[in-house]
Amino acid sequence: MTAQKKLFVKTYGCQMNVYDSERMTEALAGQGYVATDRPDDADMILLNTCHIREKAAEKVYSELGRYKDLKAEKPDLRIGVAGCVAQAEGEEILRRQPLVDLVVGPQSYHRLPELEAKARTGAKALDTDFPAEDKFAALKGRGPKAKRGPTAFLTVQEGCDKFCAFCVVPYTRGAEVSRPVAQVLDEARDLVDRGVREITLLGQNVNAYHGAGEGGDWSLARLVRALDRIEGLERIRYTTSHPNDMDDDLIAAHGDCASLMPYLHLPVQAGSDRILKRMNRKHTAEAYLRLIERLRAARPDLHLSGDFIVGFPEETEEDFQATMALVEAVGYGSAFSFKYSTRPGTPAAERDQVPEAEKDDRLQRLQALLTRQQRALQDAMVGREVDVLFEKPGRLPGQMVGKSEYLHAVHVEADDISAGDLRRVRIVESGPNSLRGVPA
Ligand code: 5AD
Ligand code: SF4
Repeated sequence: MTAQKKLFVKTYGCQMNVYDSERMTEALAGQGYVATDRPDDADMILLNTCHIREKAAEKVYSELGRYKDLKAEKPDLRIGVAGCVAQAEGEEILRRQPLVDLVVGPQSYHRLPELEAKARTGAKALDTDFPAEDKFAALKGRGPKAKRGPTAFLTVQEGCDKFCAFCVVPYTRGAEVSRPVAQVLDEARDLVDRGVREITLLGQNVNAYHGAGEGGDWSLARLVRALDRIEGLERIRYTTSHPNDMDDDLIAAHGDCASLMPYLHLPVQAGSDRILKRMNRKHTAEAYLRLIERLRAARPDLHLSGDFIVGFPEETEEDFQATMALVEAVGYGSAFSFKYSTRPGTPAAERDQVPEAEKDDRLQRLQALLTRQQRALQDAMVGREVDVLFEKPGRLPGQMVGKSEYLHAVHVEADDISAGDLRRVRIVESGPNSLRGVPA
């Protein structure tokens, strides 16, 4: 057996990166690595980067610079960059930051063991291909089958073909690819065997899923229906979706799959049709609102979440008011909102920009409204009963914390609750970021 080495992985960005970091850790376990949460203790530091926010690459370079002294002390330390910045920057990282030994793009993680072996020899290892072989099949089963917590992510789809004018994802994660149905179902069953009770299906455009299955390609709805039948899998969620890929069957599934949770992240980005068109979103505000109506007809208690961009190039105050009106009309349970910022290489980066002060002002007004809505929906839970899947102990003694079906964090004091328990809880109090309940 190879001597044990320590791996420190730092994860930035979305849930898919969290999932990928777990897979990379498992892949490197086969090379004799165990995880550590201390960089100064590590034989390998791996930054799993995200490219979605502004100046993402610059932030990675400055983070890398911080490991200079560590590397000087420990010449055997290997430093790797993975994720979307690795994909976007490629060889440039090796040129600009000599500390880096290994660069790997998201589509090449199954090649990590070979890349690590190469980096160990002192050579630079780089792979930012979009290889034809099946990454997930190649990653499968290399690591130990450890017991898991009650919730897990499962990537079913990667990449995006939508090309929204502001977004780097189609460039960093590539074209839409769906994992085959059997592979997804196997992984889900394996997670359940290891203690998982809630699975969140991940994809950059998850509802565009069209994985090969029995009888042809399966839609996300069909996949959800099959997962719904897995014994012991109590909860299913999926994220992130594009409004245009919400088909009739998926809407219906929200009404008739007991394990599909009544919470949906369905970004609209803006409320003005003129801006939506300039964003290349390929839907109108009205079409989005009609879709929400249909979803709520299938599942009346559905909580909605969204993403918003303010100050997209050419956005006027009137356009912004259309976003505010759309938010008023929907009533969001939670939301993420951002000031538009340029991403080199995307179409909108070349256009006339809205002044920063204007963006700040709009973001403040939008966030005030979204926070009010979020708080109102959360407060409305007081007096109601919800199902809570408990995940871990809370800060106070005897306290456990878990999530309601609507993804609210719920604290309960009870000495007979363990992680993984799903219990009926009556909500008695609504705090700034969580609810408090008592066993019902
Ligand atoms: N500027 C601001 N926000 C952006 N997002 C993506 N690209 C940009 C950008 N250039 C936001 C979108 C997306 C979320 C993940 O990040 O709202 O849905
Ligand atoms: Fe980016 Fe989502 Fe648009 Fe795809 S659908 S380009 S991931 S914002």
